Amino acid sequence: MTKEQPVRLAVFASGSGSNFEAIVRAFQTDQINAEVALLVCDRPDAFVLKRAETLGVPSVAFRPKSFDSKEAYEQEVLDHLLGASIDLVVLAGYMRIVGNTLLKAYPNKLMNIHPSLLPRYPGKQGIVDAFEDGATQTGVTVHIVDEGIDTGPILAQETVAIEPDDTIESLERKIHAVEHELFPKVIQTYIKKLQKEHA
Ligand code: GAR
Repeated sequence: MTKEQPVRLAVFASGSGSNFEAIVRAFQTDQINAEVALLVCDRPDAFVLKRAETLGVPSVAFRPKSFDSKEAYEQEVLDHLLGASIDLVVLAGYMRIVGNTLLKAYPNKLMNIHPSLLPRYPGKQGIVDAFEDGATQTGVTVHIVDEGIDTGPILAQETVAIEPDDTIESLERKIHAVEHELFPKVIQTYIKKLQKEHA
């Protein structure tokens, strides 16, 4: 990474990819010396791949189960990241625990978004867990990824109220709306910090 060259970002996603799309659109319109250079997907039938095609972002899709081990899968992913000169990785609905192969290759350069106020409600269904727990508020967390599940230093959090008339669906809509605003902003702030460190 140099000050002049754009920072090259890879997004990892497993599903619909609404956050992926929000990030790509923000990077296309905002004044930032960075680009979304690659989508990495671990489900070849995920809708996010169609979004990447429409948005003109190169993508690779894998079936992790077809590899002999998690290390072998992550090594293949890493080869693609290095081949595309990726500086920073963001997980946007990537439903897999990141292992040492990727963690070691991208120390402090792996970021995740989670739909709760961590450390509350980690795991695969943060929205449902908060709702079913009867919580009156939840939210969104962006954090640096470490070896844990939805742990690691927190970069930003935003609270979302759970109103008495909310349903899981309405709560999900509110959380996604917050995510789509917050995540691109936090990524861009982090990129500016990295660029300053390399100036
Ligand atoms: C998002 O709500 C994201 O926070 C969550 O998956 C959703 C993906 O939606 N991530 C996690 O739960 C990670 N533990 P999207 O595919 O529409 O961006």
